[in-house]
Amino acid sequence: MQSLLKKFDILKLNNIIFKKISMPKAYNPNDTYFRQAKKRGLRARSAFKLEEILEKFPTLMRKKANVVDLGACPGSFLQILAEKNPGGKICGVDLQDIEKFPRNFPAELKLIKGDIYEEDTADQILKFFDGKKADFITSDMAPNTSGITSVDQFRSIELNERVLEICDKQLKYNGNLVTKIFKGEDFEEFWMGEFRDCFEKTKTFKPKACRDRSFEMFLIGIGWKGEREQKKSENEILEEMTEEDYLREMGRL
Ligand SMILES: C[S@@+](CC[C@H](N)C(=O)[O-])C[C@H]1O[C@@H](n2cnc3c(N)ncnc32)[C@H](O)[C@@H]1O
Repeated sequence: MQSLLKKFDILKLNNIIFKKISMPKAYNPNDTYFRQAKKRGLRARSAFKLEEILEKFPTLMRKKANVVDLGACPGSFLQILAEKNPGGKICGVDLQDIEKFPRNFPAELKLIKGDIYEEDTADQILKFFDGKKADFITSDMAPNTSGITSVDQFRSIELNERVLEICDKQLKYNGNLVTKIFKGEDFEEFWMGEFRDCFEKTKTFKPKACRDRSFEMFLIGIGWKGEREQKKSENEILEEMTEEDYLREMGRL
């Protein structure tokens, strides 16, 4: 009985560890993208998703851009970003340690181990860019999967809400964003509402390297309007105003 309990606890523990750290899958020799990634020395097959996006929308990343990659581990997006942005500055952020790249990495690179929900992580990114905002942000972040599709889809929307908060602080006016999202029940509301409001133009795109059956896809935001923070604080001021304050402000008292 005791050993059965121990076995159960170990299984539970493994399950928790497995769910907490959502890692990209290991090389699978039967998958063309895995094979191609290995051949090209890319750290994960996800590289081909970003490569296809940047080929389809070549103006997303200007030359010598300041780029932030959220959820960057093990680093295949970073490899593509650097290949297409030689001489630029790239900052990769992840909860997990990202293995260092060789010295001949084509862009200036900063790797940050941190949670995007922590303010300190955002501060470290800004510091790397000498207080300047980024031209382009990518996010391939995936939530800790629960195995319940609707829960995972909801968590992915939550992560993307945080990505937009990061854009508030870190993305320059007219900058661009590529972010992964799990398409589900709340997707349309998020995309057609909050996401569309933030950019001049938005698109959805499912790269070929996303598995057919998977509900993951990418949202592309072109031309960050950069007014959310300001709008938010204006609304907060209005909410705090009494009717008398408001009329006085409007010159009617
Ligand atoms: C699919 S992997 C990214 C693969 C990566 N784009 C590549 O090409 O190598 C998703 C990553 O998101 C990270 N992640 C999830 N939530 C995060 C958070 N709150 N802060 C930082 N990273 C997070 C995970 O640790 C995981 O490494």
